[in-house]
Amino acid sequence: MASNRTLKVLSFVAGAAAMAAAAPTTAVAALPRDNAGSAAFAAPGVPDYDQGVRTRPYIEEARSRAAAAAAPSGVELVPPAPEDGSVWISVGKDDLSHPAGMSLPLGVPVMSSARASVFRVAEDRLPQIAAQMHEKFHKCGGFFAHSTQAEAEADLKAPPSTTGGPYSVDQAAWVKPMVERVKEAELRSTIETLAGYNNRYYTADTGAAAANWIAGRWAKLAEGAPGASVRLFNHSGWKQPSVILTIPGSESPQEVVVLGGHLDSISGYWGGAGARAPGADDNASGIAVLTEAVRILGERGFRPKRTIQVMGYAAEEVGLRGSAEVAKSYQGSGAKVVGVIQFDMTNFAGSGEAIYLLTDNVDSALTTYLAKLVDAYTGVGAAQTRCGYGCSDHASWTRSGFPASAAFESAFDTMNHNIHSDKDTLGNSGGNAEHSVAFAKLAVAFAVETAKPAGSAKLADAAQPKGGASR
Ligand code: BES
Ligand code: ZN
Repeated sequence: MASNRTLKVLSFVAGAAAMAAAAPTTAVAALPRDNAGSAAFAAPGVPDYDQGVRTRPYIEEARSRAAAAAAPSGVELVPPAPEDGSVWISVGKDDLSHPAGMSLPLGVPVMSSARASVFRVAEDRLPQIAAQMHEKFHKCGGFFAHSTQAEAEADLKAPPSTTGGPYSVDQAAWVKPMVERVKEAELRSTIETLAGYNNRYYTADTGAAAANWIAGRWAKLAEGAPGASVRLFNHSGWKQPSVILTIPGSESPQEVVVLGGHLDSISGYWGGAGARAPGADDNASGIAVLTEAVRILGERGFRPKRTIQVMGYAAEEVGLRGSAEVAKSYQGSGAKVVGVIQFDMTNFAGSGEAIYLLTDNVDSALTTYLAKLVDAYTGVGAAQTRCGYGCSDHASWTRSGFPASAAFESAFDTMNHNIHSDKDTLGNSGGNAEHSVAFAKLAVAFAVETAKPAGSAKLADAAQPKGGASR
């Protein structure tokens, strides 16, 4: 019986992560942008990539304020990189040719392509460099972290094209009773627990502790799902691990369906490991959605055809670093990832009741499929928005050649402007988790419809909880 199965929390270093562990340094490279900030900010001669859609006004303001308040005047903000503790930053050619880009204190590039240039800087200056990019460009400068110089070089090329699907919506008999099980109180409880850590910053003890709490919680909740296990994906450059729950497929286990969201939080770019960063919306709310899906899959003892993996990524807020390592390790091992959904910010109803699907840095067939799932199972409408840069971990998967998409809480220009500060609390998202409910339904629907129930799975399991009444 599933209830007798033992769930283990393992610590491992996989594939590319193992190679990363051997690497003396970490590298960072930029995502190619197909959109570069508000039209209002566009300089003469610079293409209006975002076609008039305002992007990032609140993050920009908050980061500029934080940088202005904390930066010591007259002090060089980006000192030369030391021999050890260096990283590589890649900046797109469009940004470098912008007057603001030319004034960034990055020094001489160590390598360049037609798409981007790579600079070597001190790792502990990453947050400040990001802040300066925001300040100078008046938008977010998306960038990627890499563990080796070779990875940074590879990142200068165009990403490989994605292959996923075909995606079909034909499991209503399974999905409908399962999505009815989503509980606002469960979502709220997870958000409150995660926001209760001082922060979940990638180098903080509390950041590692929060990841461990998630691992333990997922292991417990998934006990009823046959063969489920939880692992910590350790990263070589910082203490916070990523967390991966696996429910193995019983017919096509090599085909993997990924649901993810970042587990770290940040407060400004000068706060670091000591700053209060509840990250209730960004992104305890995404982890809460994943946790609720795990609860329902476990409670139903769901047995999928394909393997389901639920991932909490470390170090997203400092350049998508955790997910970049995870995605690269899957790429390196030739994994067959059929689809990745990202939940990053689900509980702030900035644009009313809808699920906004990102349209940039995503796989379009997967996004079309997600819109069908939203319509069929969530009770809210599907809408579209765009970040204009690689704003979250879906971009790491896209970059590694896997089909990925992302569900977001609002239109980009009405997003929660309390994120990345001590004000990103549940109270400032309405004091409840109602807005996240539809996202949890989407997570359950995505897992079941994409992985499909195994032939041996019994439909009664979708309606009847394992081991008695549900909580
Ligand atoms: N949750 C945000 C991304 C986001 C913010 C999406 C607002 C949509 C609206 C994410 O945690 C984040 O802050 N990402 C970074 C990415 C960067 C470090 C590459 C960002 O946007 O600055
Ligand atoms: Zn964030």
